[in-house]
Amino acid sequence: MMNIGIIGAGHIAEKAARTLNGMDDMRCLAIGSRSQGKAQAFAERFGIPRAYGSYEALLQDPDIGLVYIATPHSCHFENAKDAILAGKPCLVEKSFMMNAVETAAILALAREKGVFVAEAIWPRYMPVREKVREVIASGVIGKPVMLTASLAYNVSDKERILRPEMGGGALLDLGVYLLNFVRMYCDSPIRDLSTSCIRSATGVDASEVITCIHEDGTLSTVQASAFSQGANEGVIAGTTGYLVFDDLINPTSLRICRKRHIVERVVELPPQITGFEYQFRACADALRAGALEAPQMPHAEILYVMHLMDRLRAEWGL
Ligand SMILES: NC(=O)c1ccc[n+]([C@@H]2O[C@H](COP(=O)([O-])OP(=O)(O)OC[C@H]3O[C@@H](n4cnc5c(N)ncnc54)[C@H](OP(=O)(O)O)[C@@H]3O)[C@@H](O)[C@H]2O)c1
Repeated sequence: MMNIGIIGAGHIAEKAARTLNGMDDMRCLAIGSRSQGKAQAFAERFGIPRAYGSYEALLQDPDIGLVYIATPHSCHFENAKDAILAGKPCLVEKSFMMNAVETAAILALAREKGVFVAEAIWPRYMPVREKVREVIASGVIGKPVMLTASLAYNVSDKERILRPEMGGGALLDLGVYLLNFVRMYCDSPIRDLSTSCIRSATGVDASEVITCIHEDGTLSTVQASAFSQGANEGVIAGTTGYLVFDDLINPTSLRICRKRHIVERVVELPPQITGFEYQFRACADALRAGALEAPQMPHAEILYVMHLMDRLRAEWGL
């Protein structure tokens, strides 16, 4: 049984707690909040045995084997640093850090202290990844030529999305999934990158489009918006057909089409709790193997994606 401690009793912590409650081989042992009352209420709601009124107190709990950091982006650096210095393996919500400088520093610290750290970018850990590889290898869609995807949630009422100093904007919240989609499903390196963004009144990136030309001639075009609701589909288009993700982040099935939306085959994905269980299990497996990183999302890849996001924001003047 792996004991997990959650830091930050917010929206995504609730989903993590629900997920862990559905797992046999791990459980949420403790919740840490800046407020004892909030921790207590969260613990009661999800049947969590221990409630701490500070993150520091949770990090001192010797029974916790993995800390899940579920705070805003702007807190990830401090929270991960404290966890690593306390010797606690940690799984940090996406986006891993605010920028590549923070990312490189945390990865170096984790390496120096010999502590496991991973990014909770959940599609990286899901069985869909292998299914997509199988479909492409089968040749049914031919040679992949173009990837398109969009991700739009109207989260413009959230403080952490609106405020630049909290790492607000669409990129760190949603665009990060799109870049991971491109990186997971196109092995060819990015040769050229072009992009534009629309800013919010508060000065964060509200909506953006990113186009990548890959060295092998594949084209990827992705769009993110934190100010609208969207269909959130993804498509891998090949020379003889295309593959549709019904939900880019958490697909329930993949549709294989030849032309004009005629569905040739539907690949069903295994039933799941919420989809978060795969990332927790990947951490447990890596820890059991004595690894310092998760093979599904290696440290070099976390840093690469963060560099890409720095480059995009530099292009937008942010
Ligand atoms: N994987 C996913 O599908 C997914 C979805 C949404 C969000 N996320 C990620 O999860 C992280 C948290 O997002 P969320 O939507 O859960 O945010 P949220 O609802 O605002 O919760 C964040 C929690 O962080 C703690 N916190 C610490 N310092 C804070 C500060 N200065 N301001 C606000 N809260 C602070 C608070 O907990 P206490 O008051 O208890 O200390 C707060 O409840 C982000 O990195 C986000 O990108 C992931």
